[in-house]
Amino acid sequence: MPEKAFAHRGFMLDVSRHYMPVADIRKLLQAAQTLGLNRMHWHLTDDQGWRIEIRKYPKLTQIGSVRGDSWFGGGSETENNCGYYTQEEIRGIVEYAGSLGIDIIPEIEIPGHESAMLAAYPEYGCRRGNGDGRWPDKVEISCGIFPGLICAGKPDAMRFLKDILDEVTELFPYPAMHIGGDEAMKIRWRRCPDCRRRMREEGIETEDALQRSVVLEIGEYLASRGKRTIVWNDVLEGGPLPDTFIVQQWMGGEEKTRAFMENGGDVIRSDNRSFYLDYCYGQTNLKTIRETPRIPEYARGHEEHLLGVECPLWTERVNNIGRAAYQLFPRLTAVAVWMEAEGELSPAEFTDRVREKQKKIEALGLTGAPESVWEMSEEDAEKDRKAEYSRVYSGRSGELIHANDQMVLLESTERMMREAGLPEDLIYRAGNTVAAEYYGEAADPADESAGKLIRQIMKAAEGREKEDWRKECEHLFRDIQQCAADTAVPDPGIPAVPDREGTR
Ligand code: ACM
Ligand code: ZN
Repeated sequence: MPEKAFAHRGFMLDVSRHYMPVADIRKLLQAAQTLGLNRMHWHLTDDQGWRIEIRKYPKLTQIGSVRGDSWFGGGSETENNCGYYTQEEIRGIVEYAGSLGIDIIPEIEIPGHESAMLAAYPEYGCRRGNGDGRWPDKVEISCGIFPGLICAGKPDAMRFLKDILDEVTELFPYPAMHIGGDEAMKIRWRRCPDCRRRMREEGIETEDALQRSVVLEIGEYLASRGKRTIVWNDVLEGGPLPDTFIVQQWMGGEEKTRAFMENGGDVIRSDNRSFYLDYCYGQTNLKTIRETPRIPEYARGHEEHLLGVECPLWTERVNNIGRAAYQLFPRLTAVAVWMEAEGELSPAEFTDRVREKQKKIEALGLTGAPESVWEMSEEDAEKDRKAEYSRVYSGRSGELIHANDQMVLLESTERMMREAGLPEDLIYRAGNTVAAEYYGEAADPADESAGKLIRQIMKAAEGREKEDWRKECEHLFRDIQQCAADTAVPDPGIPAVPDREGTR
């Protein structure tokens, strides 16, 4: 392997969406070793399950690791919904991985993706939404982005996190740990008196900056325990981070990641289009991987801060090791070939090398996807993407994800309304009516007209091609603001001072 460019050669395993038995993880570690990988990033907590025993807080696993029938739009509704790893089991896996030359990097998600955590300990959620018993969280049974965030304003909640990290850092010798930071929607934080107090006290203006403040606090704590902190690139939305942090780039925000690297920050590369192995083969396949630039645009000129590559396996639709093998192989194999390649490989050479390595993977009893999907015509790829979309968005899974989409839309709508300068109180009243419906609670009758307003905005946004329309809406709001500023009537009370110099 060219050590410098790819010192970090990893895969990420999400065991929250589906639990994976210890014996199966060991098998994946063997495969990783076969491919020359040296890191497994272990995504242990998320909305759909808390999978790591924390002795001080037993409800995290008693409640947080248990889930009923689940609807992710593919696979079984019942298989591997429940389970967790005892600290003994974790020590065993870490030791086994070490014997194979693989370091394990644990991830505890902070501050979002906390539904399972807050189902167990609601007192560490925000007031209004959870801490006061309204908008309660549960271990989620579908995919989506959920509003459950740990409260940033309660000192007890920060202590709770640090206690958890004390136990986690004891279990994993690797000198860095991951604290997530992706997809933290701020609906709760905007409304929480405790979070707002912290913002006031620290002179923080936005909730994204509040997230950064939490990350800095936790990062400092981890540093005191000898660990560097890894975060998803979303955290940079709240402002720059010091170069003691490591950023994992997955989607969007590339210019901020570039700036982080310019200031000396190290980055792990997981660009979703090339390296997300939960995607269908119509989206990401051998051709996609082969044609991925070895240095991404955001890292040009700062290659020395690119630590390497990691391929996430999110497991919403991966119930078991058989499906994991299908998603991972041969794409992880292809990424290993891509990292190893010293020069340009022809498509045939590339596939030959993948095929050779695949024999070793198959010999471990891991059956990868058939050659028929390794590369696809554009037409077949399109069909495959459509089939995946329709699996996720139909039936019960579709109903649940559509309901959750309303909260995702609410998040961006609240941001837009704020940017447009609408009064905060109006935004909350309007948003509360949408949230009340999501949580099955009665809306406050006084909020009826605010509710009507926000539903119109959301309906318009929903009816268009999502991303583009949201951007159009934002532009529209900004233009209206600009127009209002440009056409503002000047204060007539101040007479103009004659410009004598100019008339000389
Ligand atoms: C992510 O895929 N939410 C990091
Ligand atoms: Zn709060």
